[in-house]
Amino acid sequence: MSDADTGFLRTLPKAELHLHLEGTLEPELMFQLAERNGLELPYSDVDALRSAYEFGNLQDFLDLYYQGAGVLQTEQDFYDLTWAYLERCAADGVVHVEPFFDPQTHTARSIPMSTQFKGITRALNDGQEKLGISSRLILCFLRHLSEEDAFTTLQQAMPWRKHLVAVGLDSGEKGNPPEKFQRVFDEVHRLGLGIVAHAGEEGPADYIWQALNLLKVQRVDHGVRCVEDPALVQKLIDEQIPLTVCPLSNTRLKVFGDMAEHNIMQLLEQGMCVTINSDDPAYFGGYLLQNYIAVRDALGMTEAQAIQLARNSINASFLSEAEKAPHLEALEQLA
Ligand code: ADE
Ligand code: ZN
Repeated sequence: MSDADTGFLRTLPKAELHLHLEGTLEPELMFQLAERNGLELPYSDVDALRSAYEFGNLQDFLDLYYQGAGVLQTEQDFYDLTWAYLERCAADGVVHVEPFFDPQTHTARSIPMSTQFKGITRALNDGQEKLGISSRLILCFLRHLSEEDAFTTLQQAMPWRKHLVAVGLDSGEKGNPPEKFQRVFDEVHRLGLGIVAHAGEEGPADYIWQALNLLKVQRVDHGVRCVEDPALVQKLIDEQIPLTVCPLSNTRLKVFGDMAEHNIMQLLEQGMCVTINSDDPAYFGGYLLQNYIAVRDALGMTEAQAIQLARNSINASFLSEAEKAPHLEALEQLA
């Protein structure tokens, strides 16, 4: 596929399964919200902020990401953030989203859980009504904080339980293994919620094993370091456990030196259920379609492979089989 086929990639009905709402905060909106809330940002303007987006690793990024999230204060702020993301999705041919949010980043600043949920879910409802984009929301625990803090967060979210499809685990991976959160995810399981976790982004293959065996995840977020353990690769293929891979994120955070070195197409060809996602698009240079394009340009992608990646994204979602069916049929029409 060449440049001329970007329209084809846009037309594919795609789901986005690995997206942090706080990571969609564009510099323009960050300045707008700072002004609206009477806050001073430590950058002179949007260009100065954007030029700070040079990251040596995940932690470099997280430091800026948590600082940026500080402008989110009111229900309307959470609405505006979520709505701006959904408009980008509509432009990219995204038909279904399962976004993450990090409530502890906000409750730590005394922004109530209710403010966050109200703003986000109002925008997601509008996304369904006005843009035809379906959604399921995922709350993430911050793994650099304690398990006790995660328990408190889960408790605080219970009045909003019906708005959640799953709970995830994100933030700095190194030194914060999945096993640290085994008891709280046992509780998530008892509550009947789905489970996902970031693992094998910067952390070793063993963290992916822990996510599978101890947390009982249904999807692995990132997971690209699975290739360090052939038995793990075989299990992921045999059990079709989805990986939500984020190509532009991985190159910006130096998980891979260059897109040409990325292993996503290799994993796809081995039969793994890999999906393409944008992670934190305001920080990493592109939304979902840009990630498909970047992979195609660096690694090559046939139309059949693009359709398979889109099909994987629908299959790996938390939608019911009946809800998946029309998207899968539309993809079959393109095959
Ligand atoms: N939070 C936002 N983006 C993240 C990523 N790529 N890894 C871990 N935590 C995150
Ligand atoms: Zn992520």
